[in-house]
Amino acid sequence: MAKALSIDGKRLYSSLAELGKIGAYKDERTGIAGVNRLALTAADGAGRRLVVKWFRQAGLHVTIDKIGNVYGRRRGLEDHLAPVMMGSHIDSVPTAGRFDGCLGVLGALEIIRTLNDAKATTRRPLVIGFFTDEEGCRFGTDMLGSAVATRRMTLAAAYALKDRDGLTVEEELRKIGFLGQEPVGKIKPHAYLECHIEQGPILRHKGLDCGVVMGVQAISWQELTITGKSCHAGTTPMSFRRDAGLAAARLNVALREMTASGRYGREMRAAMGAIRPIPGMVNVVPGRLICSVDLRNPSDALMKKAENDFAKLCKKIAKLDGVTITSRRTAKTPHVPFDKSVQDLIAVQADRLGLSHEPILSGAGHDAQEWSRVCKTAMVFVPGEYDGISHNPREFSTPKQCADGVNVLLGAALALAEER
Ligand code: GLV
Ligand code: MN
Ligand code: MN
Repeated sequence: MAKALSIDGKRLYSSLAELGKIGAYKDERTGIAGVNRLALTAADGAGRRLVVKWFRQAGLHVTIDKIGNVYGRRRGLEDHLAPVMMGSHIDSVPTAGRFDGCLGVLGALEIIRTLNDAKATTRRPLVIGFFTDEEGCRFGTDMLGSAVATRRMTLAAAYALKDRDGLTVEEELRKIGFLGQEPVGKIKPHAYLECHIEQGPILRHKGLDCGVVMGVQAISWQELTITGKSCHAGTTPMSFRRDAGLAAARLNVALREMTASGRYGREMRAAMGAIRPIPGMVNVVPGRLICSVDLRNPSDALMKKAENDFAKLCKKIAKLDGVTITSRRTAKTPHVPFDKSVQDLIAVQADRLGLSHEPILSGAGHDAQEWSRVCKTAMVFVPGEYDGISHNPREFSTPKQCADGVNVLLGAALALAEER
């Protein structure tokens, strides 16, 4: 009976809309409603409380671990067996839409609601997890909660991370009431599944209904501090300057040239997304500048080569502009391949529903890549409109696109939950 179940797409979409009201703001330029639920802010706390309330209403047993990850558990007929976990995150970048992460969490909740309505049972328990600071925008390290739960990172190292104002993860978790008591790493799932928007143009351009995610490409983040000399912008002759802003500009151009060179493969991507000149005034040459560097590559070997060459470029540009450049590693994850048997299962479910699909490598980082070290894991991708724009208020997937992805997730979760 359970195999013929189908989720309520309207209920899913209205839950996405409801959660999207928390941290909502109006994008000044476009007038479109965006979402700002930066990790461990009051808005994140309010979003968490709403989802916990929904978990409890769906009969889930809720626990919170020491890094603030939240788990909702539904009993299985053989309740001692390892659970099938579904999850994602509800924190957001400050300029988000309502789908990134939330689709995976509320999609999993919709699956539980569907099972409850049908009074359906599963052999294994089902767990929904939402994980702390997947985005990494505030404390610098992405997939923070799932990295701690799966022991890539220690709890102490995570607690000590600070935001720009010097506030720590531990203090901020306590402040929003999500410094939980459960030990991290207690749950060892049988399998982990995540449904997520693609956040790029590929599925939509190919006219596909969904993507079977093969894995996640390597990610390298660093923060550079460029130190020169601050001086008056009008009076200081150009030959006297040690302009940190100029060095940052050269580095940004160098990154673009690296991606275009083909030396690091055709898929290398790079961005300098956060640039903070200090003091940041119209008439002051910045004596210091702090900026981020985000590198992505499907190949670990090419990523290493790019990192090494970029470090050499930093030295060269420092000399040229009379500045010093220091680098601090903020995040690094290798290329992560997902389990082939779970990918096949997802493809079978898509076929069963008559949905077109192809394998796809994720360009973005996801909690699933952390869980894949602990248990067999794969993801379902949902296409996005407007070239799959994401980390932007225009992020948008239709009710049908979302429902299709979550129905695939449902089929895969039920199959895994019957495994012995
Ligand atoms: C997560 O959103 C990432 O930066 O890949
Ligand atoms: Mn996400
Ligand atoms: Mn994101």
